[in-house]
Amino acid sequence: MSTSYNPERVAIIGAGKIGEAIIEATLATKFYKASQITTTARSQKRLSYLSETFGVDTASNIDAAKNADVVILAVKPQLARKIITEITPGLNSNTLLISVMAGITLAQIDNWTGSVCPVVRAMPNTPLRIRKGMTAICGSVSAQTHHTGFAEAMFNTMGRTLVMDEKLFDAVTGLSASGPAFIYIMIEALAEGGVKAGIPRHLATELAAQACLGSASMVLETGKHPAMLKDEVTTPAGCTIDGILKLEEGGIRVTLIKAVEEAAIKAKALGQPD
Ligand SMILES: NC(=O)c1ccc[n+]([C@@H]2O[C@H](COP(=O)([O-])OP(=O)(O)OC[C@H]3O[C@@H](n4cnc5c(N)ncnc54)[C@H](OP(=O)(O)O)[C@@H]3O)[C@@H](O)[C@H]2O)c1
Repeated sequence: MSTSYNPERVAIIGAGKIGEAIIEATLATKFYKASQITTTARSQKRLSYLSETFGVDTASNIDAAKNADVVILAVKPQLARKIITEITPGLNSNTLLISVMAGITLAQIDNWTGSVCPVVRAMPNTPLRIRKGMTAICGSVSAQTHHTGFAEAMFNTMGRTLVMDEKLFDAVTGLSASGPAFIYIMIEALAEGGVKAGIPRHLATELAAQACLGSASMVLETGKHPAMLKDEVTTPAGCTIDGILKLEEGGIRVTLIKAVEEAAIKAKALGQPD
């Protein structure tokens, strides 16, 4: 990241699940102090929770935007146009707008703000809460290298980042943003298998989760193709191949491919109303 671009104050507009994950991670990594963060939400209950839990400021959308150098937009995509119209009078050419909203394009945001400020689109996932996130990043035409570099640096403290073409963002949403939900179901189901075979549930869940963590780390750290790693586990006439036969009978590959495809289609549709 450029050392000359160090935006001091950040606003999180719509600090729900992903907004809270960003707050937790930025505080834990000391990327921002609580006194530098202002949050907004729909309900007073949510605002009280955020200020009591994290010590962050709370404000109206427009005040939060006006006083921030970086504005992170984390409301539901259906609210995008309304909220962007609301905060635009508080933005200026020195503000960096970072949208984490699924389906909403840079062109739509530029259109609604009148291109008043540079915009970066980021698609994170909730594991960034524990610094194991995956965030895809792309910048609008007005975003300079230091803007995308800042977003990269911020999300890098929360896990991995990839700068990617915006046309892939709906697919990224279906894969790595929705993906944790798919994987939790897989962990739960694997643990059920352990329970069925007699392992106490809490031990089965730990065994399943650590097996997923270790396998994912093997893919990332060895750089080997997953099929090759699978072959290393699969002894001829051993037990794993019998399990794989059941997975294939159940159509696990087709099911996972379709899950990502459907989530990506839905992500695209979320940005369509306008
Ligand atoms: N969850 C994920 O894993 C994930 C991953 C990547 C991207 N995203 C994107 O992140 C965005 C938020 O998702 P989420 O799961 O965090 O949803 P969420 O938990 O429902 O959070 C949305 C937040 O927006 C607030 N809000 C609603 N109306 C508002 C208004 N008029 N002004 C200010 N704040 C308002 C809500 O406040 P109240 O709590 O008071 O209702 C809520 O805290 C979505 O666009 C989604 O596509 C989510």
